[in-house]
Amino acid sequence: MKLKNRLIVKKCIDDLSPNIEVLSPLFYKALFHLDIQLKTIFSGNVVFLNRKFANMLATLKNVKHLENISDSISKMGQRHILQYEAEIKHFPIMKQALLIALKEFLGKDYNNDLEEAWSSVFDEVAYIMVQAMRSTDNNSQQIIKKNKIIAHDPDILSKIGGKDVVFKVHQRFYDVIFNEPWLETFFLGKSKEALIKKQTQFMVAAFNGPNNYKGDTPAFVHMHLFITDEMADLRERILKAAIIAEGLSESIADQWLNVEHSFRAAIVKNSVDECVLKCQGQVPIIAKKPDNYKPEF
Ligand code: HEM
Ligand code: HEM
Repeated sequence: MKLKNRLIVKKCIDDLSPNIEVLSPLFYKALFHLDIQLKTIFSGNVVFLNRKFANMLATLKNVKHLENISDSISKMGQRHILQYEAEIKHFPIMKQALLIALKEFLGKDYNNDLEEAWSSVFDEVAYIMVQAMRSTDNNSQQIIKKNKIIAHDPDILSKIGGKDVVFKVHQRFYDVIFNEPWLETFFLGKSKEALIKKQTQFMVAAFNGPNNYKGDTPAFVHMHLFITDEMADLRERILKAAIIAEGLSESIADQWLNVEHSFRAAIVKNSVDECVLKCQGQVPIIAKKPDNYKPEF
């Protein structure tokens, strides 16, 4: 039954993905109706809110083998309490808002089996997150890098020049990254073309454009990669150079980086112990800084 429910939810999210920007406002309308206080946690404009909603759905879609990724879900629970100001009492409200939005969106296609599937999958994931939140010391010195609320421009994609420009920037970006003496370690054996395509789909969706990204959330994709703040800074400098080289302005480059920057909390790790492995036999990927390394960027 568990697996059946998980597969129903996955299929439903795959079908919903192209309409995420229709479903997302229905969700927030229901959420704020149930608890207006949540507006302080879910602040920011529509770009920001749609992205948060899409992230949550992407996680629920991923649960076919929930048991294998439960460590990663626990870490996500910790980030929720330490960095996003989420509280345990918010989970039932969020679930209710999700069910209301789905019902409104799906109309006659909404039925008891679907409701049961969504409800049980949400509970399964929430249970792991909440357990981790309970055992996390709220006052700990561990992280507390509160996400800055950044007002993302809803028209950023058209100011950039559309998805073709995003694609070209990523071509430049990955050409550099795949040859960057330090960061290239992460990309050995990876397909540059596939990454350019996926990164473009991902960012177009993050810029409030059409959502054609079918991959996992940033936290999952990078969970076994020991990525430090220093590496993420370097990556941002390389990206900025690629944006400028494509002829975009400094101000657009900074806005692009602001959107990118908001994914950092889910990717950057303070120690190798924070890496989470998806399956037995997998090892964390650690990129040692080359001797006498002098970054070009
Ligand atoms: C089953 C329930 C939930 C799931 C699967 C979920 C999933 C996610 C994911 C994947 C992210 C992206 C960042 C990351 O990976 O760390 C995220 C971010 C966030 N979530 Fe949740 N979440 C859930 C419940 C909640 C609840 C109950 C709240 C609080 C009311 C909340 C508030 C937030 C906030 C504020 C962010 C910040 C994102 C940002 O600033 O970019 N989430 N969530
Ligand atoms: C220094 C920082 C980063 C490094 C070293 C890094 C490295 C990687 C690597 C190695 C992959 C391929 C994973 C695989 O195929 O198993 C990947 C995929 C990806 N990364 Fe990053 N990443 C970084 C930061 C980011 C950031 C900030 C974002 C979001 C804005 C991001 C978004 C993505 C996406 C969307 C994919 C494709 C996922 C898929 O295959 O579906 N990465 N990254």
